[in-house]
Parts: sequence; C-alpha cells; structure tokens
Amino acid sequence: MCGIVGYVGSNKTVDVLMGGLRRLEYRGYDSAGIAVIDSRGVLNTAKKAGKLSALVEELKARPINDGQTGIGHTRWATHGAPTNANSHPHLADNGRLALIHNGIIENFAPLKAELIAEGFSFESETDTEVAAVLLGREYQRVGDLAEAFRTIVARLDGAFTLLAVHQDQPGVVVGARRNSPLVIGLGEGENFLGSDVAAFVEYTRRAVAIGQDQIVTITADAVTVTDFDGHSVETEEFDIAWDASASEKGGWSSFMAKEVSEQPDAVANTLRGRITDGRVVVPELTEFGDDVLAGIRRIVIVACGTAAYAGQTAKYAIEKWAQVPVDVELSHEFRYRDPVLSADTLVISISQSGETMDTLMAVKYAMSLGAKAISICNTQGATIPRESDAVIYTHAGPEVAVASTKAFVAQITALYLFALHLARVRGSLPEAEQAAQVAELQAVPEKIATVLGVEDEVRQLARWMSDTRAVLFLGRHVGFPIALEGALKLKELAYIHAEGFAAGELKHGPIALIEPGQPVFVVVPSPRGSAHLHPKVVSNIQEIRARGARIIAIAEVGDAAVLPFADTVIHIPLAAPLFEPLLAVVPLQMFAMELARAKGLDVDQPRNLAKSVTVE
Ligand code: F6R
Repeated sequence: MCGIVGYVGSNKTVDVLMGGLRRLEYRGYDSAGIAVIDSRGVLNTAKKAGKLSALVEELKARPINDGQTGIGHTRWATHGAPTNANSHPHLADNGRLALIHNGIIENFAPLKAELIAEGFSFESETDTEVAAVLLGREYQRVGDLAEAFRTIVARLDGAFTLLAVHQDQPGVVVGARRNSPLVIGLGEGENFLGSDVAAFVEYTRRAVAIGQDQIVTITADAVTVTDFDGHSVETEEFDIAWDASASEKGGWSSFMAKEVSEQPDAVANTLRGRITDGRVVVPELTEFGDDVLAGIRRIVIVACGTAAYAGQTAKYAIEKWAQVPVDVELSHEFRYRDPVLSADTLVISISQSGETMDTLMAVKYAMSLGAKAISICNTQGATIPRESDAVIYTHAGPEVAVASTKAFVAQITALYLFALHLARVRGSLPEAEQAAQVAELQAVPEKIATVLGVEDEVRQLARWMSDTRAVLFLGRHVGFPIALEGALKLKELAYIHAEGFAAGELKHGPIALIEPGQPVFVVVPSPRGSAHLHPKVVSNIQEIRARGARIIAIAEVGDAAVLPFADTVIHIPLAAPLFEPLLAVVPLQMFAMELARAKGLDVDQPRNLAKSVTVE
C-alpha cells in the first residue's frame, strides 16, 4: 500500500523521487505524485491517477523545476477514488506546504467539519487533505514544520506516516509516524526517508528504523528524531542486507518468475548460520531465552493470507517435534475477539513485509495481555519485529511481486528451525531424530531446484486450461494448507474462482461441486511416508474421477497408485512427509503464474491488491 519517499540533497531530486517510487511500485498503488521545492524556494507539484508512467508523461508535458528537497507518493485508494484530485501530495497554507500520507486518519470527518467551519476549503475527498490543512494552519501559528507536527499528531486518530515540506523551510523534510512504516536512509551530504529501504537502496545501504509515535526531520547533513512530545530519542543504524540489484527484474519476464526461481536460495539462506553439528541452534532464540522457551505451554500463530498458510503448514511440525499445542489464527479475527492468553503462551507472528496492520495489531494486543511475541519476518527494520520480543528473519531477499512465493517457503523453513530449536531445548525429540530432520531440511533447496524443472509441463497445462472458470484444490494433513495456498495463488493472479479443501472433507459437502470436466488439483501424500493417508487420498481421487473430475495430481516420483486415475501427474522428489509442502507448492505457484500469463494478465501487480497491507 501507499509508498512514501522523501529526499534532501544535491542529486536531481525529481529523479531520486521517481526512482524511489518505481522501487516502491510493488507495494500496490493506483496514483502517484511528487512535490519539490525548487532552487528559487518555490513549491512545485505534479500528480496523476494511474501508473507511474502517467506521472512520467505528465512531467514530460509539464516539467517542474528541480531542487534539493522533495517528497513522493504512490497512493492505494482508501478515502476517495483514484483520481488526480485525490492523489497526493495535498497542499495547504496557500500552496506553500505539501503533505503525503500512508494510513487512515479515522477521525478525519469531525476534523474536516471543524476546518470547514473556520473557512478552509478542500479539493479532494481524502482524509489526508485534512491532515495537510491542519498542519498548514498550525504552521502559520508556529512557523516550524516539526513543531507544527507535534501539535497536530495529538489530534489524529488511526494509523499514519505523514511527510511534509514547506517552501519557507527549504532543505527540510519532516515526517511523523504512528503504526505505518517509515525508515531513514543515511547518505553523504544527502538523506532519505522511505516506506521501506527499497525507496533508497540505490543510493545508500545505511538505514535507521523509526519507532512508534516519533517525528523525524532530515536535512542534507543531519537527521533528528524525537517522540511526539519533542524529546530526542536514541536510534539504531543497520546495514541493508539487500543490494539494489536484488530488487531488479534482471532478465526475467516478471518479478514473480524470478522469485519462484529463487526459492532454493530463499530456503538455503534462511538455514544459514542456524545449524551446528547437525543440531538447530537459532541464535535469536538463544538470546530470547531457552529457559523461557522450555516453559511455553501453548503457541498461537497470527498471520494473514499466504503467511497464515505457512503457519498452518508448520503447526504439524511444531506439534510433532516440540509437542506444544499450536493454534493458527488470522490476525484480524484474533484481535477482535477475547482470546485466552497467559504468560506461558507464545505468540508467533508471520509477515513477509513486517508491516501488515492486522498482524501488528494482533501482536500488540497479545503482548498487552502478557504473552511473549516472536516475529518471523523478511524485512529488516520493519515494525512488527521491532514491536516483538524476538525476531527470526527469513532471508528470502526482497519480494517484489505482490503474490508471495519465496517468502512462503522461507517462512516454513524459519518455522521448522523454530520447531527444531524448541524440540531441542524441551528435550522432546531424540537427537537422532533431530539430526534426521535437519538433514531433510538441508536437502530442501536442491529438491526445490529439481521441482523447478517441471516448468514447461506446467506452462503447457496452464495454456490448455486458460479458459477454465473454476478450479478446486484438495490436500490432506500438510497438503491441506498447500491446497489452500494453491487456490489463493490462482484467485489473486488469474482471477479465477478457486477453492482449497481438506480431502477428508470432500464427502461432507464439496463433492457436490464436481461435474464433468471440473479440474481438481490433488496434493497426494507420499505412499512411503504417509502409508495410512495415501490410500485415502487415492480413493478420494477415484470418487471425484467417477463423477467426471479432471485430476491433476502433485505426487511423489514413483507413486504408481495415482497414475491410473489422474489426467496429469506432476512429480516432486521424495521427501519426508513434513517437507513435502515445500516442494508441492512450487508447481501450484507456477500454474497460477502461467495461467495468468496465458490470460495476458499482470502477474506482478494483480488488480486491487497491495503487497503490504498497512491499513486494517
Ligand atoms: C498472497 C499474499 C498475501 C500476504 C498477506 C500477508 O500471495 O501475498 O496473502 O501473504 O497479505 O502479508 P505479509 O506476509 O506481508 O504480512
């Protein structure tokens, strides 16, 4: 959702802002704009509904004067349609102040009424313009942006990152943050602000995360961070682990194709440094406290979408290896009931972006009830890990395509590491068993690389099926969350109705959907590793086949039992049952991507979706 970039320095500001916005495109947006204070000290803005290319055309048609101070924004519409007028920046103080915003100002209506009563007028339907006008009014009173911000934030309810410039203060960008993301980039004679490090990674690898309820002022040579009361706060610098090229498409047809292919590395990099002598020792967990972990009686996983399916997959391993009960909850459902938590409950959040508002709120809520919180996250300096007691970073590298792929396998990997670390400190898994699971885990990258070889087969299948209107997915045990993930990928990328079911549930209702020709993907458990489940799933296949379903089986190499009943079999290498999801998901990701491509759709930025859902 909304991308934010701010810059002060001697580079070409318009280029820095547009480059930053381009790198933030992946977050999802439907309009864009910039504001620059030019060398004469005049504020210039350009904004346009649509993709960045529309703003580029606008800047060609009506170039703006460049300068050394500016802000840029990509907007994902919440209040008001994606029109030119609703695009950010919004102006105030007679066009001398420009402001951009990510989040939702929940009390904008009474504030707007108050300002209208005072004679202010508005040009947009947005909540953001209310903050701009409020800030402009305060600036006129105090004559300083940071001070004006300190007053107005007290009047705003909701979540926000706000960035503003005022033409009377050239060389200064000020930002305020509550719950929405904002990171500082430290340069030489220049400084940056961004929704995430992608905004400025081209220029600097030095970053500082900004805490909750803080105000930051950047100039070319200085960065000042205070709390909302104006007290200065300590900040911590970190090195950005990604280089700019990691978030480039390279020669790939799409970011998604690139990221699917990067999955062996995503797993291998997440394992790195966390296995010693055949045992899992996750340094971040040792620091968190093995004694605390040993006393955990219950685990609640909170996450949304694909991340929640990673949690559902890992539940089986955590319960089996560490013998602790695990509940997996959608963050937004968890937060708004009265969950029973105690001091011996561990809450694990899973979030690629580390900014998903629903998950952040669930974590804060759980912590307020006394639970300990660990975050599984792919983004350094993001809000959720900062708010948690500990973090296990997944090292999948930047995930740019909106649909999550490599982050998913990295999340399962991190959760398996967690499960094996927990099993070790709790003594719940014999050493030899631990070593066997570690060996399985270490073999996953190579096995995923083998699965990537089914690409042509899957592409062919997707082309044949390009006018399919509905697809069902079945799985059992760890195959069930994979069926759900396969269906989600297909919905979001190819806009096809898709449902995932637990295979055992079939006869309790979903079998009524089967009619001649209905395509059904079945994630088949291994006949060796899951000897008790395999025949049950094969008989499910027979039941739906008898009613005309067209079966596409994802099955282990050498599984002869499915061959007579499947129209297509996609083979995956042999693996222990708990590791099959890391392999079986890959052809499903590819299928969704290839079907979307066959339909001529944008696989990186599907309609209506945002990469990082920073509003509730
Ligand atoms: C689906 C997808 C989403 C995210 C969900 C959580 O492909 O990407 O379902 O998994 O929005 O996002 P994070 O992991 O950033 O919290």
